[in-house]
Amino acid sequence: MLNSTEMLRLVRAACNGDHLKLSQQIDLLADSVEKAKPTAYTTNLRRLAESEREKGLAVNASLAPVDGLTEPLLPPDGTHKPVWDKTVRELLDGLVAEYKKLDVLTAHNLAPRNRIILTGAPGTGKTTFASILSERLGLDGVILRTDRVISSQLGKTLTNIALVFDRLHMERKLLFIDECDMLLARRDNSHDVAEMRRATNLVLQKIDTLPDDCILVCATNMSSLIDRAAWRRFDVRVHMTLPDKATSRLIIMHRLKELNIQADVQPLDIDIEDVSPALLVQTVDNLSRKTLISGSETIPTDLFVNAFNSLKMEVSNQ
Ligand SMILES: Nc1ncnc2c1ncn2[C@@H]1O[C@H](COP(=O)(O)OP(=O)(O)O)[C@@H](O)[C@H]1O
Ligand SMILES: [Mg+2]
Repeated sequence: MLNSTEMLRLVRAACNGDHLKLSQQIDLLADSVEKAKPTAYTTNLRRLAESEREKGLAVNASLAPVDGLTEPLLPPDGTHKPVWDKTVRELLDGLVAEYKKLDVLTAHNLAPRNRIILTGAPGTGKTTFASILSERLGLDGVILRTDRVISSQLGKTLTNIALVFDRLHMERKLLFIDECDMLLARRDNSHDVAEMRRATNLVLQKIDTLPDDCILVCATNMSSLIDRAAWRRFDVRVHMTLPDKATSRLIIMHRLKELNIQADVQPLDIDIEDVSPALLVQTVDNLSRKTLISGSETIPTDLFVNAFNSLKMEVSNQ
């Protein structure tokens, strides 16, 4: 049960019509009486808390300081185009086409696919995908600041999530949630705190009610941590794979071309796979810097082969 000070806070919030405060205090009351599992009583309390939160947010929505909870998603780097595999290319084209034909689809009671989850190792292009999609749709992109949204103050995380989504509904944007496993964590995890379980519930509910003209892109490299119920909420689930040998060669050759640098190697001399595109591009960039500084525009074969062998070693030792 709540102690007398907390009880007084709850009553005061109710008397003052302070919905957000009241919702926090009701959550606290539910926490204080809930043992291992929710009971009918605590479930009812949670519902009341949720309804008070919604009321509070409706009052505050236009005034609420959502600033700081998101930051702009940077537009794609115009000097570097990713080499996507066919699946990813077709997916991007499909999403753009559907969004542009929103009216046609809605006239037939269909909505464009607008809830996307990308999984894959770091450096496989998840953020780049979100950024390119936002540019191609002509929609401003924002990144959720998970570090700011998740708060240690009771009820604040839920309020922050609701604020971000309410603002998204009003502003028609692309929302990118990186490391979404933090907000969509498995609810069966015994170490989980009640507040984070409720956060996952709220994000799932917000995904369900996402307007057709907003886009949500979630990304994670820890897909095993994601709540099972979350998967089916997404219209598109894509795993960004590490490139095979042929694709790795393409990425390397493509990058050399972008930089206008020659390499004294045949594509078949490049024998590397399962290394992230980010590392491949970084290695080409480093080789190119070295070469240019030495006064040449052609990377010598031994330098090239050694650099990719070292990269292979480095990755296999990780
Ligand atoms: N398919 C790709 N082809 C070429 N470069 C890529 C590709 N995917 C990623 N990159 C490079 O890797 C960098 C990091 O990509 P990023 O989108 O941040 O990966 P992630 O979000 O999956 O960690 C990008 O700036 C880009 O230079
Ligand atoms: Mg990223």
